[in-house]
Order: sequence, then C-alpha cells, then structure tokens
Amino acid sequence: MTDTTPYYVTTPIYYVNDRPHIGHCYTTLVADVAARCERLRRGSGDDVFFLTGTDEHAEKVVLRAAENQCSPMEWATRNADEFKAAYRVLDLSYDDFVRTTEERHKARAAAYIARLMKSGDIELGDYEGWWDASQEEYLTETAAKESGFVSPVTGKPLERRREQNYFFRLDRYEQALLDLIDRGDRGEAGGMRIAPEARRNEVLGRIRGGLQRVPVSRRIKDGDVDWGIRMPGDPGHRVYVWIEALCNYLTVVDNQLEPATAVNEGGARRRFWPASVHFMAKDILWFHAVIWPAMLMAMGEKPPRTVYAHAYWVRDGRKMSKSLGNFIEIETLEAYAKRYSADAVRWYMLTQGPLGATDADFSHAKFVEVYNSDLANGIGNCASRVSNMIEKYFGGEVPEVDLPPLAAKFQDECRPCLRDYLAALDGCDLLTAAASAISMVRGVDQFIAQTRPFTLAKQMDVHGKSVAGILYYSAEVVRIASVLLSAAMPSKMRALHDAWGCPPSPGVSLAALCEFGGPYGLRPGHRIVKGDPLFMRADPSEPAPSAVQA
Ligand code: MSP
Repeated sequence: MTDTTPYYVTTPIYYVNDRPHIGHCYTTLVADVAARCERLRRGSGDDVFFLTGTDEHAEKVVLRAAENQCSPMEWATRNADEFKAAYRVLDLSYDDFVRTTEERHKARAAAYIARLMKSGDIELGDYEGWWDASQEEYLTETAAKESGFVSPVTGKPLERRREQNYFFRLDRYEQALLDLIDRGDRGEAGGMRIAPEARRNEVLGRIRGGLQRVPVSRRIKDGDVDWGIRMPGDPGHRVYVWIEALCNYLTVVDNQLEPATAVNEGGARRRFWPASVHFMAKDILWFHAVIWPAMLMAMGEKPPRTVYAHAYWVRDGRKMSKSLGNFIEIETLEAYAKRYSADAVRWYMLTQGPLGATDADFSHAKFVEVYNSDLANGIGNCASRVSNMIEKYFGGEVPEVDLPPLAAKFQDECRPCLRDYLAALDGCDLLTAAASAISMVRGVDQFIAQTRPFTLAKQMDVHGKSVAGILYYSAEVVRIASVLLSAAMPSKMRALHDAWGCPPSPGVSLAALCEFGGPYGLRPGHRIVKGDPLFMRADPSEPAPSAVQA
C-alpha cells in the first residue's frame, strides 16, 4: 500500500494577463487533492512535489500592462500575487510557485533550447500560417477553416502571419509518440497515459493524421518591448512563449545545469522527474501530450507518466469567456467560502466539476443540494450524532468493546471502499475516491438507522454491550472516512480530528491510519468531545452569496 516512488503533480502555469477565475482554481484544486492524497498515502510530504505558477512572457501581458500604464513586470507581479491570494482562499497546498520571469526558470529553459539546437531538433526555416493572438498559437489550415478564421477559444479574428522561425522537428517523433502512448495504455514503465479515454483517442487520431514541425521562435521587431527569452545564439529571435512555458515543469526540478541551491533543495528535486501527472483542461492537451513529450524525448529526458485533461466549467451550458462576461471569478468563490466554508467549495468543485470528459455547469441550487446531502446531513451530521451518543451514554469516553467481530464487519463492508479509494487514486479518478469515502459515512448512517442505538440505550443494563459495539463501530468508521476525506476537506476534517483527539500522526501511512481498531484507531477510554457542527444546514431558498469585492 505504501508507495515510495516520488510523486510530482503539476498544473498549467496560468497567463498573468488576467486575474484568476474558477477554471484556474479548479485545475489547481484537482492537483491539490491529488497531492494531498499522495501525502496521506505515504504518511509524509517528503516524496510529493506539487508545482503551480504563472506564465508571464506572453505578448498579451505586454499589451495589458500598456493598457494599465505599468510595466509588464509590474502587471505580471500584480496578477501572480492574485493567483497566490486565490489559492489561499481555497487552501491549495502547492510546494512551489514558479514564475517564468524568474532567473531559475529562464536560464534553464534557454539551456534546453540550446540542447535541442545542438542536437538538430530545432532548425531555422520559413513559416506562414493562421495566428491566434489571443491564445498565442498558430492554427493548422484545417483548424482555421473549421473555426471560420476566428479563435475557437475567444472568437477573435485570426491573423495571417509569415515569419522566419526556428522550428522544432515534431514530425520526427510520430512513431516514438505512438509507441509511448501505446506503452502508457498497457501500463508499462516508461509509457505515457493520456486520460480521460476520449481525449487519448483524439490525440491519437491527430498524431496518426501526421505531424508537422512546430515554430518555436518569434522574430523580434523594432520597437518590441524586451519581454521573453532570446533564442540561444540568435538574439534576433525570442523563444515562443508556449515552448518556454512547457519547460517550467522540468526547470523547477532540474539541478544539472546549475549548482544546487536552497530553492531546488540541494538538487534533490531531480528525483521527481519524470512528472507523475500534468493536469490541465482539454484546451491545451496537444501541447502537453504531444509537443512536450516529443521535446523531452529529443532532449534525452523521460516523458511524463500521465497527462490528464479535464473538461470545462461552463455557465448555463455556454463556455465561460471574457466576451460573454460570464466567468465565475475568485470573488464569487470567496463569497461561497465565507458562507459555507472553503472546504464546502472544494467539495462541490471536486465532486461536481468537469473532471472527466463532460463539461460541468456551476449552479447555486446544485451547490446547496450537494452541501446539504454530503456535508451538513452527511459527514457533519453523522459525526455529531455519533459523538453525541458517546457523550450521552458513555460520558464522552470511547466504550470498551469486543473488537474482532467489529473488525470483521469492517473488513466485509468497508474494505472494498478503501480498495476503491486507492485504485481510484492510481487512475487520477478523484471523484470515485471522494465517493468511496463518503459512502463509508452513508453506511454508518444506515447502520445506526437499522440498529437504533438510541432505542436500545433506554435499557443500558440489558443492551449496554450492543450500544457500545454500535457506537464504537460507527465512530471508528467515521474516523477512517474522515482521514480519506481530509484530502478534499483538510480544515473541516482537522477540526473533527481535533475534537475527537485523533489527529493523523505524521509519518504514519494511510494503510496504518485506516486499520480498524489498530494502533491509530480509537481506544477504549479515549475522550471524544462533541465539537461544533462541522457544517450548518443551508437554506435552499436563500439567494446565492454575492461576490466579495476585491
Ligand atoms: N499559459 C498557458 C499554459 C501553459 S502550461 C505550460 C495557458 N494558460 S491559461 O491561463 O489560459 O490557462 C488554461 C488552463 O486554465 C486550462 O488548461 C485549465 O487548466 C484552466 N481553465 C481555464 N478555463 C477553464 C474552464 N472554463 N474550465 C476548466 N478549466 C479551465 O493556457
């Protein structure tokens, strides 16, 4: 059960032309829950590394900065800080936050490009194509035609651009990529898994349609603001922002090009390569599942083990976009966190979000429904019922019980949930992981409804032993479920562990923590305090909370 392979999870690095919204927060939340699950699984964060950050060298950052009468660096810093503030609202536990304007990134990214120029995988040539300025990328002729010569993401007109560029010879890696994905499908070491399945199929289809070389530089024009990384050996060109940005995943853990520093933990971060999983939405899967692994293979580096592209958050069935002005901004999430708790927002986003291949609508009514059923009437009510009864019938002390039959019942009824939880983690299926944890809580509710300890307790002299067994079993299952739920709801589950006096001990693996009645389980005589309710019931008729003003 205990895995010692270093675990490295990443989010895209987000553009700093704008402030964070639900889409950015969602991918970072997914990565956060994955990182927390892995820390739990190992009993420590030593071998887990969670990276997020900002992509700052885009042309649109220069434009937005000019519109706002400040330098690109000031604008980038302002928005990078906004991302960090947003992550505090949602309790996102990243280990490092990279900004591509940092020296540690720039120096290494340039060195990778130099390596690719030396190996002949990057070469000079001419290029003409359809440029999507809002996304900073060229579209193929077919894609441009299909979208009616406007950006498929923002709807802005595409520009016809012709330039002399450096190119990465992606066309050389067609077979290597197909082999890589094939090995990933078969779960072989060194393979790359693309998930979900529908996305993998799309990528494979496109690779089979043929790969072309991709431009990796921009010629610097007179009057251009000096923003970005110069092509090594050719200062007349700048490295294309996408190519530079992808390098962030490696620059931050790489220690081969520079002496070890405090920030790369004495060079020890190298052990995190290859990345365990790159999370993102489907918009940027091609860069991550095709261009980036091919670049890595060309550099002699291992490709990521998993590339996971979720779907989109939408609003009333329509894509969220700047032009429609229908983004769920961070202020809205903050208002929800204020009223219902940050953990409730995390739970809603995690369980109702677009983790698979289907888009998800953000809906207040759904939020309240899920909040009440899973949290207020679910884990919250179950925990307080159990602690109230222990208080009432046993003076707040965990009762003495005959453990083996209860442990056997746990084996029968809850082991499958634990197994599902762990299997789901391996497949990045955080939804199933969350569902199996909450189903343990539902099982306790049913058990209490069937056995009616509150009725039996009217005759404690006759039924005392049964009441003790029912409550011990229920409390132990709630404790174990709360450990599993702590990745999704860290602060509420911490509050429960504090009230029950059973905080997960550092250095103890998930397997040990989840042993029923084991060394980290509830011991007879241990005091349980019935704390404040974890989640107050929400009134469905109350209007949605309005955004907290920045
Ligand atoms: N800077 C590039 C990424 C470089 S990674 C080497 C970029 N930035 S972005 O700011 O546009 O972020 C795109 C990502 O934000 C998506 O892949 C996804 O992770 C997240 N989302 C943005 N809008 C979203 C939704 N509406 N729904 C879900 N996630 C979305 O692309």
